[in-house]
Amino acid sequence: MFAPVFAQLDAVLAETRHFWQFMPFSVQPDEWQAQYPALYQWLNSLSDEQMAELLDDPQALAFQLAPYIPQAQQLYRLSQVEGLARIERIAPKGLDIGIPGRKWQQLQAFNGALPALNLPWLEWCAGKGYLGRVLTATHQTPVVSLEWQQALCDSGAAAAEKLKLAMTFVQGDAFSADSEQYIHAGQHAVALHACGDLHVSLLQRVASKQGQAVSVSPCCYHLIRDKSYQPMSRLAQQSELALSKHDLRLPLQETVTAGNRVKNLRFVEVSFRLGFDSLQKHIQATDEYMPVPNVQKALLNDGFEAFCRWAAEKKQVTLPDNIDFAYWQQVGEQRFGWVEKLELVRQLFRRPLEMWLVYDRACFMEESGYQVTVGTFCDKPITPRNLLIHAELKQ
Ligand SMILES: C[S@@+](CC[C@H](N)C(=O)[O-])C[C@H]1O[C@@H](n2cnc3c(N)ncnc32)[C@H](O)[C@@H]1O
Repeated sequence: MFAPVFAQLDAVLAETRHFWQFMPFSVQPDEWQAQYPALYQWLNSLSDEQMAELLDDPQALAFQLAPYIPQAQQLYRLSQVEGLARIERIAPKGLDIGIPGRKWQQLQAFNGALPALNLPWLEWCAGKGYLGRVLTATHQTPVVSLEWQQALCDSGAAAAEKLKLAMTFVQGDAFSADSEQYIHAGQHAVALHACGDLHVSLLQRVASKQGQAVSVSPCCYHLIRDKSYQPMSRLAQQSELALSKHDLRLPLQETVTAGNRVKNLRFVEVSFRLGFDSLQKHIQATDEYMPVPNVQKALLNDGFEAFCRWAAEKKQVTLPDNIDFAYWQQVGEQRFGWVEKLELVRQLFRRPLEMWLVYDRACFMEESGYQVTVGTFCDKPITPRNLLIHAELKQ
């Protein structure tokens, strides 16, 4: 029963929302200095090394934040989940052809965490059907793989033919009424890393058809068609929390798999954006944060001035002559430091918010008559989106 843990997480996330439900770019240091002086002082005392260590260690972060956010350790405890028991299912030789190493490890782990129900499979948003390939080969039951992109269907079908696997690819839109025809009661439906509404649509359709079993590993919670999050379970529908797409990005913001290059790119891009924002505030005599659209990463190599000229054109800001770009770049870099500190605080809520979303899905399946398990199917370095929701219709 996931309702009690959901209710606890919900209450704590609601009462602490001022620490995570905001846009870090638009919060000024003096606001926090006035509202949370002790926390502000602690954040400012941290060295870059200490910040990096805390980002990598959620338990230590919760411990360190507890004097300032009393719910910190409770949040950490509530977001802990068990690793699922796994069986090693040996795949036939050559099955991994064309599959990148880390993906292969994910597939093995995901398959190992699924019970063998001896049912045909439906693979939702299959890509090239890598998961379906492993499932049909190790369970000896056929798989139907639904995928939107024809090229991926073709590539998957060609591989399946070569490997002599019982796979059928269908090109289809997971959201269309037409794709419902592929969902049957006597089936085990799976979705590995189907984004946002795509895995939600599978859970809803399986529940409405009372399909026997469904297993999903959610990702990209923010990729939804509505403006804001639509809770699935009755419990979550009663929650005080209203989640924007920005909030829904929080569960994905972690640095475990980000290499130095990614971290550097982030430093350059974010500090350029913040430097430009400070500059435009100065020119236009405003306090309002100005968001700038996505930028081609190559433009960042042309330097801060080029970025500002591009952003000014996009946002129709007239830049006066004689701007001291070096100065505004430095302002941006300083603001980057502050944004990083706010992001460190928000990290405390990252996994709890993800668990809130996952338990919403679990509660929805329970409300629909299913026995549900939730746990991790692999360690984070293999994929940070390592949660698995498995639901089986109660007899
Ligand atoms: C993140 S990939 C996951 C692929 C695969 N399950 C895996 O783990 O490798 C998501 C897949 O969903 C597909 N997709 C996106 N929108 C879709 C839709 N409306 N209907 C069906 N598939 C869709 C994409 O083309 C992509 O192949």
